[in-house]
Amino acid sequence: MNICVFASGTGSNFKTILSSVKSNYLNSTIPLLITNISNCAAAEIATANGIEISHISRKLFHDEPEKSYSLRFTKVLEDMKIDFIVLAGYMQKIPDDILNKYRERIINIHPALLPSFGGKGMYGINVHKAVISSGVRVSGITIHFVNEVYDEGKIIFQHCCEVCFDDDEFSLQKKIKDLEHKFYPVIIKKFEEGKVNIVNGKVKVI
Ligand code: GRF
Repeated sequence: MNICVFASGTGSNFKTILSSVKSNYLNSTIPLLITNISNCAAAEIATANGIEISHISRKLFHDEPEKSYSLRFTKVLEDMKIDFIVLAGYMQKIPDDILNKYRERIINIHPALLPSFGGKGMYGINVHKAVISSGVRVSGITIHFVNEVYDEGKIIFQHCCEVCFDDDEFSLQKKIKDLEHKFYPVIIKKFEEGKVNIVNGKVKVI
C-alpha cells in the first residue's frame, strides 16, 4: 500500500509504523504526512525521514468553502497516489469528500475501548482521566474505520489491559501507548495482506 499518515502530535505511533516499514515488517511505503500543526513532533519525524509534509489546517483556510478546502487534500493525496490513510493522533475533522473517496481505506486508533470513552473532547490524557475516574477495571485500544462521526466507524480490532488500583492517567497512558505500538503495525499488515473484510456489516479480520 502507499500510505499517508495524518498526525498532529508527538508522532510515536507514526514513528513505530515507520520503523515497521524500515524493518520490512510492512511492505508499504509512506511518502506523505498530512498535519494541521506544522511544527509538531510528527512533522519533525517526517523531515528526519525524508517524508513529504503537507500542512493543511482549517485555521489557515478558515473562510474557504468545504469543497475547495477538501480539494487541498484530494490534490496532494492524488499527486502522491495514496491508496490508504492511517490516522495517528490527527486532531481535525477530515472533509467528507476524503472520507467518501477512502471509504474502508482510512483507519484510526483510539486509546480506549470504544464505544466507551469516545467522541468529542475524548483525546489524549482526557480519555485516561475519564477512564480512571469512572472506576472501570479494564481499558484498551480500538482500531476502527473512520466515518463522518468521531470514533463511530466500524471496529476492526480491540485489545484490553487492566486498570489497576494504583494506576493514574499517566501510568494508564503508558500501558495504552505500548499496546498501540504493538498492534497498529499488525493491523496495517492485515490490510496489506487483504485479511480485513466486511462481512454482514461486521469487520472480519483473518
Ligand atoms: C494515540 O494515543 C492515539 O490513540 C490517539 O492519538 C494518540 C497519538 O499519539 N488517536 P502519538 O502522537 O502517536 O504518540
